[in-house]
Amino acid sequence: MPSSQPCLADTYALSRDYTATSRLNYQYYLWKETLGYDLHPSISLADTGSARAIADVGCGTAIWLRSIAQALPNDIFDGLDISLAQCPPVQWLPPNVSLRAWDLFSEPPQELRCRYDVVHARLLFVVVQNEDPRPVINNLKLLLKPGGYLQWDELNVPGSSILRTSHDVQVPEMESRLASLKQIGGWVKRLGSYMVECGFSEEGCWEYGEKKELAQAFFDNHLAKDVEMIVTRTQPVADRDAQLNAIKDLYDESRKGAVLCTPKVVCVARKMV
Ligand SMILES: C[S@@+](CC[C@H](N)C(=O)[O-])C[C@H]1O[C@@H](n2cnc3c(N)ncnc32)[C@H](O)[C@@H]1O
Repeated sequence: MPSSQPCLADTYALSRDYTATSRLNYQYYLWKETLGYDLHPSISLADTGSARAIADVGCGTAIWLRSIAQALPNDIFDGLDISLAQCPPVQWLPPNVSLRAWDLFSEPPQELRCRYDVVHARLLFVVVQNEDPRPVINNLKLLLKPGGYLQWDELNVPGSSILRTSHDVQVPEMESRLASLKQIGGWVKRLGSYMVECGFSEEGCWEYGEKKELAQAFFDNHLAKDVEMIVTRTQPVADRDAQLNAIKDLYDESRKGAVLCTPKVVCVARKMV
């Protein structure tokens, strides 16, 4: 595969500067400590004597690929993303990693079809449109060999809750933010059944609650993402300032001993043979 390609038209809601890139890299380590793995243990890769092919779609900074490619040096890894602007130079990644621009809302080119034993995706929450992941699942399915695995790691946003150091901590802004989070992302709870509807056999979906020790770190990381989204979006300055002030209020409230926690979900399914 070519090691890099020009960027496609980029409609991403978040930023691609060094702060955004650092946020994603840091977030990867928080996820790794929460899950304890890159590939879910239910994925058993057959030893066929030849290299297995694994794709990370929406690969971001390529940090997941870097980790897993080092652990599985005899396998082949492709990072696919609408923009490779947040990846390091491919020369600095393990030699078994390639990068390629691909818009996951378009059908994959012929050479990528039925190529992969595993397709991994993480945090496409802001990418999925109209609360419906099926167009994405169908395109990811085209990448997989029959019998190949899809692993999708996502945030269960409506499953969010407030963790407090004590019942007395009053956090009205956080309560109000929680009420809005409950209204979005219901599709994540149905991710496993959507995969089945799209022709996969479901291996399972696993939910990971926030570890108390990581709760503040995840909360701060999510606030950084919210700020990024507000600043990236074109909107009247007054609206933008009001939203940035709301983020500051949430952060100030968290210093009283409360944070919003959002469970992580990992869904694994297999493309039917
Ligand atoms: C929140 S980031 C997650 C990155 C990475 N998976 C991680 O966990 O760090 C979402 C990623 O999806 C990519 N993306 C957005 N729209 C896309 C599209 N239409 N096709 C492919 N990738 C897209 C973005 O460029 C970004 O890298």
